[in-house]
Amino acid sequence: MKIVEKKIQRVIPVSTATVLWNYLDFEHLSVVHKNYTNAEFIYEDEHVVLEMLSFKIPFFSFLHSNSLHFFVKKSPQELVAFNLGLFGIPSITRIQIHELEQQQSEITVTHRFILRGWTQLLAPLFPKMIERWNKQVWNEDLPLKLRRQQMLNWGFRDFIGLPSTLEERYGQPTATSEGSSKEPSKAPPHASSLRLESTILRKERQLLAKFFSHWD
Ligand SMILES: [Fe+2]
Repeated sequence: MKIVEKKIQRVIPVSTATVLWNYLDFEHLSVVHKNYTNAEFIYEDEHVVLEMLSFKIPFFSFLHSNSLHFFVKKSPQELVAFNLGLFGIPSITRIQIHELEQQQSEITVTHRFILRGWTQLLAPLFPKMIERWNKQVWNEDLPLKLRRQQMLNWGFRDFIGLPSTLEERYGQPTATSEGSSKEPSKAPPHASSLRLESTILRKERQLLAKFFSHWD
């Protein structure tokens, strides 16, 4: 058996809460990250998430694979992800978030791949593959984290001031007082997507509330 280990450390000018927000936003995986092609959630609670991920393999993007991904929030400063992926190779990724100063965080990601049998022959490929994967994910997440921090600094607070229903956002259909009923205001053409968005927002709100109830 061989264990390939790769530690990558980076510093980012955002708070540790913003870093954690990005890691706990599981829905963004297949939307923001080009390498993830699908993410199906099997189970989640305030501490763990179990999901099935589909992804493209670094350097061999024509190859797709699935993995079973178990994510544990051990604390707001330590996250651990257990993954059973390509060729059944298990991996453990440990993420440590450390506040250097206000809005200056250090993130240490330690990847460990456990290679058995013939998969040990792949060992020399892993450090470069991990590096490339990590760099791409980092670059794709970076604008999200910077924008989030900027919005918080400008006074934005989650779910404050946002109407919770579509009716509150667009108003009820109305009739004129003269009896000649005016055409009820038509639902916007993108109503179904707004409904979906509203559902997602509700789900996000519940999920974030669960996660952040353990934050303080
Ligand atoms: Fe991400």
